[in-house]
Amino acid sequence: MPHAEDSPSAHPVEARPCEALHGRIAAPGDKSISHRTLILGGLTVGETAVEGLLEGEDVLATAQAMRAYGAQVERVGAGSWRIHGCGVGGLHEPEDVLDMGNAGTGLRLMMGLAAGYGFTSFFTGDASLRRRPMGRVARPLERMGATIVSRSRDRAPLAITGAVPPVAIDYAVPVPSAQVKSAVLLAGLHAPGATTIVEREATRDHSERMLRAFGAQVGVEAVDGATRITLQGQPELRPTAIRVPGDPSSAAFPLVAAACLPGSQVTITGVGMNPMRIGLIETLIEMGADIAVQDPRDEGGELVADLFVRGGRLRGVEVPAHRAPSMIDEYPVLSVAAACAQGHTVMTGLAELRIKESDRLAVMAAGLAANGVAVEELEDGMIVTGRGGRPAGGATIATHLDHRIAMSFLVLGLLAEQPVTIDDIAPVATSFPGFLDLMSGLGARFGA
Ligand code: S3P
Repeated sequence: MPHAEDSPSAHPVEARPCEALHGRIAAPGDKSISHRTLILGGLTVGETAVEGLLEGEDVLATAQAMRAYGAQVERVGAGSWRIHGCGVGGLHEPEDVLDMGNAGTGLRLMMGLAAGYGFTSFFTGDASLRRRPMGRVARPLERMGATIVSRSRDRAPLAITGAVPPVAIDYAVPVPSAQVKSAVLLAGLHAPGATTIVEREATRDHSERMLRAFGAQVGVEAVDGATRITLQGQPELRPTAIRVPGDPSSAAFPLVAAACLPGSQVTITGVGMNPMRIGLIETLIEMGADIAVQDPRDEGGELVADLFVRGGRLRGVEVPAHRAPSMIDEYPVLSVAAACAQGHTVMTGLAELRIKESDRLAVMAAGLAANGVAVEELEDGMIVTGRGGRPAGGATIATHLDHRIAMSFLVLGLLAEQPVTIDDIAPVATSFPGFLDLMSGLGARFGA
């Protein structure tokens, strides 16, 4: 997978200031739900028909990994896929190292899956993924009986020899992480008895919803302000048709661009509105954005709606720290909205941002400052002070193999006085392959 640090052939792109955006677009499929669909579909017996699968590099890496484990995973048309699984416990040993590319979710979920099989699975990824901490997933999986050998500080490449069967555990997740929760649940599928997770801060619940849709018994209860999730192990998963909603974390980019450009009128259709994913929409509305949520509907257990946004002037707000899990991937682009808003936007409770595809607090703070924005980096957050109009812009930004950094600074270029250049467009293909075309269709202007 070509990325700036992995290859000399990086492709810089410049985003040019534009006036207003207009049009109607569909957000690409949800990345979190796409990974889970491929994995759970591979654990059923029979055919899982999927529509709207995200065809980004991260998800394609998970598709390839599931094939290596013996599932049949076929693309039959744009976003349309068919999975023939092997049943829980029916996967076989991959012949080679599984390269998860840039995908943290892919690797952590696959680690959970691998923990239920008595053979050894080997995993690696790109330079960004190989820097990310995997101990948060390795520790509970070891408690379940898996043996994990990794590079120093729990980093990939790593190997997992699973336990047969794994031990069902009762696990209080120490960090708010849907990836950790989901990895333990996937291992728990193979464990006799009930695997229980306690979350002090609720995180996205796509795994729980989808496990139920595939026929597993998953109980969720509130206990002393925490959420207790219980999975009954060794279920027979049955295939079900999955329609993947649009990704709110991808919709975030056109949403912020349109909200900050007075005169814009943009509709983004079919956006996932899972309550654990809508923190950005709530925050933008608090900042004064004119966003209408239209035609809310249930699609296969997930809430979906169309978003109609009109551009205008935003004001700074204090974002409550407890909102972080519901918009964890959206802070980079929120900080761009904050750069255009009038006054201070205070974002805290964001220590997790330092261990995403890049250290997003450091990279955003440095990049905003280079573009003339007043920003203070905090240990667990940042304060951005906007002047209620276009920031200066004009800088070139290193994207550090991070798709959301790349797209955030391209959005900044549309909103600034001077163009903003990113050093490499390649990382965008991990989550939002058609980004440039889709934004150009709304009136955005990009150059090489
Ligand atoms: C994801 C969970 C989040 C998020 C990531 C996708 C998931 O990570 O940042 O992009 O699909 O479970 P954490 O679980 O590490 O917070």
